[in-house]
Amino acid sequence: MKKLSLLMALCVGVFWGAQVHAQKFEELGKTPQMGWNSWNTFGCDISEKMIRDMADVMASNGMKEAGYEYINIDDCWHGERDAMGFIQADKTHFPSGIKALADYVHSKGLKIGIYSDAGGKTCAGRPGSRGHEYQDAITYASWGIDYVKYDWCDTKGINAEQAYTTMRDAIKKAGRPMLFSICEWGDNKPWDWAKDIGHSWRTTGDIYPCWSCEHNHGSWSSWGVLPILDKQVGLRKFAGPGHWNDMDMMEVGNGMTEAEDRSHFSLWAIMASPLIAGNDLRSMSETTRKLFTNKDMIAINQDKLGIQAMKWIDEGDLEIFVKPLENGELAVLFLNRADNAKQVKHDWAFHYLKDDIFKQEVYFDKQLFNWKNVWTGAKGDTKGKLNVTIPAHDVLVLRLTPIK
Ligand code: GLA
Repeated sequence: MKKLSLLMALCVGVFWGAQVHAQKFEELGKTPQMGWNSWNTFGCDISEKMIRDMADVMASNGMKEAGYEYINIDDCWHGERDAMGFIQADKTHFPSGIKALADYVHSKGLKIGIYSDAGGKTCAGRPGSRGHEYQDAITYASWGIDYVKYDWCDTKGINAEQAYTTMRDAIKKAGRPMLFSICEWGDNKPWDWAKDIGHSWRTTGDIYPCWSCEHNHGSWSSWGVLPILDKQVGLRKFAGPGHWNDMDMMEVGNGMTEAEDRSHFSLWAIMASPLIAGNDLRSMSETTRKLFTNKDMIAINQDKLGIQAMKWIDEGDLEIFVKPLENGELAVLFLNRADNAKQVKHDWAFHYLKDDIFKQEVYFDKQLFNWKNVWTGAKGDTKGKLNVTIPAHDVLVLRLTPIK
């Protein structure tokens, strides 16, 4: 009976979808989304118990208070479609079904995300949404889903903009606000067309837990922190509240050094990327937990202006990024890409900042700032020169507040 009424709603939905220009849910993703996703650590080895565990941990370890909100189930939750074409959860690993899991995650004050794919099959070979978009969206809405990550495998011959628009319209028609996370790897330049379709779009292929490597899988590669960072060139003008460049789920806590994890987290934050943890929250170290819950770093990511950082100064192994913040504040990140420590002498007054895209200009010789080191809490100002040593693969992040 319930399925029948879903089916009727679906027929109306498809008709309506064909008639009316739909929209995305505009109120979502006004700052980059924050949460956790199962893929980086667990791949297909997922279950309702593990997802519940993650919700328990996130709700109680300080992450929820710090702003993490979404518990996202990635690929492989799917079973078969039923006789009417409705997707069902894999009964072995999700015996209680997704609705019960969503209720549980909601009872923890968190939201829940799910994964599908624009093609006939997902990247792990489960049923994709092609030809079932309205049916799937209405199913997710009936389960209480809050977030849809939509992948791009098995899409030969499909137009990306049209495929993502169809799912956007289906979600809108289903009537439940669900953040729409486009995962198309940047192949079809989603930044050119996805602003009104999704709330974020992946800009690259998959991440890999390493500093600067390319991990070759044969027909495709996954990428370390620096290669992903370097692929963001030219994209900052496309990001803003409700439409973010997604640098992929994080690999913090998945085997890199503490300095690399700190740099990875700081870079994703300053680039206004979604902050989606991809480690096992249950067993992470206190160092990793503290890193994820650094309120000052998160505040930079979640700043209401929603401006992605620009690369201000490039001296090879030393790069300096700046993110304009509300009230004339600035976040400044010094990145040491090198394998050895670097002495950084930065004469503020000597360097003028001009952001042509978001129209900001700072004359550091005229406007002085106080700063706070986001990672150590140390304080200082821009009157004198900055003279610090940054360890290999590490960052220095300062929040600058204008002195009136
Ligand atoms: C693609 C995506 C990943 C993940 C897997 C799941 O590779 O880019 O983030 O969702 O598929 O199969």
